[in-house]
Amino acid sequence: MGEAEETEETHDAESPAAASEKTTTTTTTTTTTEDEGRRRGNETSSSSLSSSPSEEEEERSPETSLRSETESSGSEEETSSSSSEGVRELLRRLAIDGEGEKTLAAKQPRLKTRDVKGIAEYIESDECKNVVVMCGAGVSVAAGIPDFRTPGTGLYDNLAEYDLPYPQAVFEIGFFESNPEPFYLLASHLQPGKFEPTKTHKFIKLLETKKKLRRCFTQNIDSLETKAGVSEELVVAAHGNFDTARCLKGHSQDIEKVMEHVAKGEPMRCETCGEYVKPDIVFFGENLPIRFGQLARIDFNPENCDLLIVMGTSLQVQPFAGLIEYPDIDCPRLLINREKVGEVPSRRSFFEMGMSKGRGFDFSEEGKRDVLFLGDCDDGVSELCKHLGWEV
Ligand code: OAD
Repeated sequence: MGEAEETEETHDAESPAAASEKTTTTTTTTTTTEDEGRRRGNETSSSSLSSSPSEEEEERSPETSLRSETESSGSEEETSSSSSEGVRELLRRLAIDGEGEKTLAAKQPRLKTRDVKGIAEYIESDECKNVVVMCGAGVSVAAGIPDFRTPGTGLYDNLAEYDLPYPQAVFEIGFFESNPEPFYLLASHLQPGKFEPTKTHKFIKLLETKKKLRRCFTQNIDSLETKAGVSEELVVAAHGNFDTARCLKGHSQDIEKVMEHVAKGEPMRCETCGEYVKPDIVFFGENLPIRFGQLARIDFNPENCDLLIVMGTSLQVQPFAGLIEYPDIDCPRLLINREKVGEVPSRRSFFEMGMSKGRGFDFSEEGKRDVLFLGDCDDGVSELCKHLGWEV
């Protein structure tokens, strides 16, 4: 990755310490490479309020498991309806409207104008060396892959033929264990190879070519970022992809064989233990890849993230959605999406707000650093490229 890539090892070695300074409750490691961390296998997501849990506890840490903002248990509902307003108000007064706001007010805004042109000028400046990108299904809609939650066209509104108890069951590990067929059928339509990268994917590659891309965190399982040419080490497939597969007992599988089953929509069983086989896509109830937590902790540090670009996501799924609150308090953020999202802080962020850690988007006039492009991703990046004088 040019500049960012060359410096990555240094950043990796230094940044966990910086991360622990920033969030005192973060469980840090002293790993210097991703592989070392993987061998240790004890990473949690970037913020855990528990103090140094054991390896086993970390494996089960709720912070690393995939969960949707829309599905909430009774107790969560109770929390959000009765006490969260009070908590939010208290934290706002204590932290955000207190020290956090004062700190922010004291800083010079980094954008000359809070619009796409201002973002383009900032990208061109020396101040903006590292851009972090976050993507969701919306970036691949122009490629012909439906998103999940858009009413009418989204996948979750079009799964009637799969005979599911509720749409999201198709990506739930508990459901898959007893009935993997709906997933295999759906995967037969979504498997990589059928689709081509969009202008937005090519823009991400362009950021790399211009030596501005620090990392692209994607929720998408279509691997279109790498197909557009973005280097593998610069992409974090937060929800996994079809590159590898294992059975439910963890035995590695020959991916070509698995993809033959996926293409036919026929569930495959492990030859060793007879359990069902699943591509390494993160289902609800499963942990995210270790690399997600490791790199999120490093890449969103102030010295590594000068600009955050969020594209094509409803920010409904945690822990991914919470990442928008990790950059520095004055770090500019650009949202390119068909609808406004991410304005209300997530439940988890109430605690982080208490630590002056961050907040959701603020596109209001009082806001200081967030820019919104309401529309299609491809149009948003075209507008940005027009101001940058870049050819996508
Ligand atoms: P969603 O379907 O939840 O959100 C897509 C967002 O993109 C919505 O806000 C749309 O309005 C917007 N959108 C759609 N088309 C667009 C376009 N052409 N240009 C700009 N915006 C557009 O998808 P995600 O946020 O990616 O998990 O969903 C997150 C996770 O939920 C997925 O990774 C998936 C799902 O359950 C797994 O597969 C494990």
